[in-house]
Amino acid sequence: MQSWKHWRLERDADNLAWLYFDKSHAEQSESTNTFSSEALRELADICAQLKTNAPKGLAILSAKENGFAAGADIDEFTTLKSAEEAYAFTKLGNDVFDQVEALPFPTLAMIHGFCMGGGTELSLACRYRLMDDGPKTKMALPEVMIGIVPGWGGAKRMPRLIGALQALDLMLSGRGVDARKAKRMGLVDVVTPRRHFMNAARLLLLQPPAPHRPGFKDALSNAPLIRDIVAGISRRQVAKKVRKDQYPAPYAIIDLWQKFGGDPRNVPHDDPTSIVSLFKHPTAGNLIRIFKLQDRLKSLGAGESGIKHVHVIGAGVMGGDIAAWCALRGLSVTLQDLDHARVAPAIKRAADLYQRRLKQPHLIQAALDRLMPDVKGDGVAHCDLVIEAIVENAEIKKKLYAQIEPRLKPGAILATNTSSIPLQELSGGLARPERLVGIHFFNPVAQMMLVEVVQGAATAAEVMKAAQAFVKKIDKLPLPVKSAPGFLVNRILTPYMTEAQVMLEEGIAAETIDAAARDFGMPMGPIELADTVGLDVGLAVGKELAKPGGPQPRKIQELVAAKKFGKKSGEGFYKWVAGKPQKTKTAAAVDLAPLWMRMTLPAVNEAVACVREGIVADADLCDAGVIFGTGFAPHRGGPLNYLRSAGKEKLLAEMKVLEAKHGARFAADPGWAGI
Ligand code: NAI
Repeated sequence: MQSWKHWRLERDADNLAWLYFDKSHAEQSESTNTFSSEALRELADICAQLKTNAPKGLAILSAKENGFAAGADIDEFTTLKSAEEAYAFTKLGNDVFDQVEALPFPTLAMIHGFCMGGGTELSLACRYRLMDDGPKTKMALPEVMIGIVPGWGGAKRMPRLIGALQALDLMLSGRGVDARKAKRMGLVDVVTPRRHFMNAARLLLLQPPAPHRPGFKDALSNAPLIRDIVAGISRRQVAKKVRKDQYPAPYAIIDLWQKFGGDPRNVPHDDPTSIVSLFKHPTAGNLIRIFKLQDRLKSLGAGESGIKHVHVIGAGVMGGDIAAWCALRGLSVTLQDLDHARVAPAIKRAADLYQRRLKQPHLIQAALDRLMPDVKGDGVAHCDLVIEAIVENAEIKKKLYAQIEPRLKPGAILATNTSSIPLQELSGGLARPERLVGIHFFNPVAQMMLVEVVQGAATAAEVMKAAQAFVKKIDKLPLPVKSAPGFLVNRILTPYMTEAQVMLEEGIAAETIDAAARDFGMPMGPIELADTVGLDVGLAVGKELAKPGGPQPRKIQELVAAKKFGKKSGEGFYKWVAGKPQKTKTAAAVDLAPLWMRMTLPAVNEAVACVREGIVADADLCDAGVIFGTGFAPHRGGPLNYLRSAGKEKLLAEMKVLEAKHGARFAADPGWAGI
């Protein structure tokens, strides 16, 4: 056996070489494999050595439990000092993976767990790929999500292997595929359970079959004329979703493949497709920061929650979906409501979710078995955590707590999903108020990554910690916040939504307002968003969080009184047909910037206030919460990052003008002084 800092090479009696990737840092093993330039250079040395003393075949596998490799070392990538260094890092990865591809014997990547970015690109440089069929195994090229391109050969090799249509779909979405899908696409050669890995690898290397070749249609998609047509179609599809000035990376991926053979070394540095240009663009920096903030949120859920059985009370929109999600993530769940008829729709929705997510009948059945209807509430006495998601009424909630608290196990936690009632108001009658915590999910539960973990004045630190670990365990992002009206996310979103409705009442068309917000970079305009969330829900939150003397939009009240709740009832601010808003007017041909400035500044101002009041620990976590809780223009990196990059003085001047025109709601919070 031979060892390097990040790799281990073994040869067996059949003269097969087994190369283990085992990333370490300062002599300590890390939990995840990532490619630093040091790890890449070592791989180059290993290739050179194997070339002179060739084995019969080489298998590359991971020594880490969690996966093959997570891609480039993001810490190294983010500390690169110049765009030229970014190019050098890109070139190094390409040169080394080219060396792997050129090895004169069969090579195989053995993929388990996550295989992302550079991990996928290394596997594509091998002649064969073997993949584990476990539920946690996923392969992806997610570079687009951090504003760059798959620059270590992914954009060159993947279209060749599986055709441009499938490859562009994966590269432009960043989506991961499991083993079954990867096999169907031609991305991997063999799929087996991991326990059969060694035998399957040995067989492939000792009796190597012909390497995978794409089918006729897939091969044709790379041919010169067809390539231009495919690129044109892809560009039009991307343009429907994002703008080139805001998100250059998907456009660069298409260009890189169409014009430069997928190889960034062929791209002139001053071309907008080049790594140098992308690295200099603020979007990449902001998206990488968000990616790191996501890791920070995950780290806030470190440790064991000790929660195995969750009892959810209230099987409505939220409770039903929270219960379904917890069971999907492997917990035992009991679900209580006033009668069977109210639980049944939640179970039906859960079955649909499992069908979409799990696909295999035995996995769907197992998830459904973990989700148990429990109208009598027997689960209360056995569970580790109760999540209450009944109507938003403090008196009714307190009455329920009085009934269930005496029946809880001594260590059990009581959590509320309330979106607006301060915890201190709910904990009044409790014998052990220190065990009450807010676990505030966002709607729709299956899609929204963020969960606010709300600390009341009495909530014990260990209960916060366990609640955060629970949120992480169910694969959501925990954000600890202090209990104050609206917590963090709704409090920041409300003034933005309210201002949009005030503008609507002034006569600006809904279509124009929504277009302005999208121009800023919001994934959906505020009027369409209000209809999507439900005007009844929005009105209740808006009333709860309205500032004294602040605007109280009338139109939403009239619509709710007329039972026009938006998307769910078929009409709200818009009419909805087949799940789509009917935007009848075209957005006015006006400068949209003043409109989005007017809507977004109240949100920025509120974010400043939240940090000043300590609702959230710091500005970075505030940005993370708003992005993952609302989708706030990701390329701008959150409201406070936007404030810093646009310039504090410039925005304060805008606020002054708006204050003079529209009143005190645009007065700058005292917290601006400390930004
Ligand atoms: P919902 O009205 O859809 O569901 C509430 C359910 O609780 C109903 O099925 C009702 O029968 C049941 N219920 C009422 N009293 C009960 C009792 N004593 N015992 C057992 N079940 C009882 O309400 P939704 O929208 O799911 O909201 C629930 C909670 O989640 C509220 O506190 C709300 O503020 C919060 N929330 C709502 C969000 C939303 O977008 N709808 C988002 C985040 C939080």
